[in-house]
Amino acid sequence: MVARSAVFLSALLAQCWTLQAHLAVWTPAMYGQDRANPNSNKAVQPLQDYTFKEWWWHGSMDDKPDKNAVFHLPAGGKADLEIADNKAFTSMGAHGLFPNPRTAPVPWTNTDNGWGNMHAVHRQDVAGCALGIAYKDKPEDVKPEDFVIFSVVHDCPARQLQSFDIPDLPKCPNGKCQCSWFWIHKSIGGTDQMYMTPFVCDVKNSTTTKKLGKPIPPVKCDTNKAKCIVGAKQPMYWKNKEGNNMFEPGHYAPTYSNAYNYKEGAQNDIFQNGHAAGSKKTTKKATTTATKTKSK
Ligand SMILES: *[C@@H]1O[C@H](CO)[C@@H](O)[C@H](O)[C@H]1NC(C)=O
Repeated sequence: MVARSAVFLSALLAQCWTLQAHLAVWTPAMYGQDRANPNSNKAVQPLQDYTFKEWWWHGSMDDKPDKNAVFHLPAGGKADLEIADNKAFTSMGAHGLFPNPRTAPVPWTNTDNGWGNMHAVHRQDVAGCALGIAYKDKPEDVKPEDFVIFSVVHDCPARQLQSFDIPDLPKCPNGKCQCSWFWIHKSIGGTDQMYMTPFVCDVKNSTTTKKLGKPIPPVKCDTNKAKCIVGAKQPMYWKNKEGNNMFEPGHYAPTYSNAYNYKEGAQNDIFQNGHAAGSKKTTKKATTTATKTKSK
């Protein structure tokens, strides 16, 4: 029995090494864990060319998290998430994490790094991943524009166990928020797609009552900083048939990087409404004019 499952696991491993594998974060608080299958890779399927109904929530709103499972976000602290291309290689599966899960594979060979293809042929191709939060306790109430990106790791996905910096977020309604992991890889080998793993979360030890600002989509601003969006930013919805908020053409993937003004670590500017970096003066002027008009 032990030998048989070992054979099965090596077969699975070989499969992960040869296929263009994809990735998800894995937690009992996730939607779409495909509970009956210990070797599931359903959650890692990339999202592209789908209708809104097909891609939103990774199409898994009905595959609920484990009963009472909630992923804790320590305000002002750090939280670890497991990243894998198959449930088997997580603490929810039989194989578990690979050794040294916090270390990026060296050398970076991509095909035999121990946990699968990351759409990153070269070490420097790793494009960044992010966590978003929606202050709604029911997933059915969440709209795409409700998610605010609150933590970013530029060098992700490169580790099986990834630590995320958590800002001092306000408390969740009824002890529950909806979170999601987002990832867009560079368009290597011509694949253009995005990833989304939603999960139930809750903010612990919050010391703030400040509300999050209204998020807007980012703008590519690496060559013109005035175009950068500062304040609360939405996730990037790209390459599906419906519901996109990013319109970069194929082979020009938008990424969770400085080029889109997603800073490394906790996003501490999320308490302001999203706005263009160059629009501050305009906002001030508009306010002055409004006040003058009012006092007339
Ligand atoms: C919240 O704070 C308490 C007391 O310091 C600590 O024991 C607990 O681990 C914290 N919770 C989280 C999720 O960090």
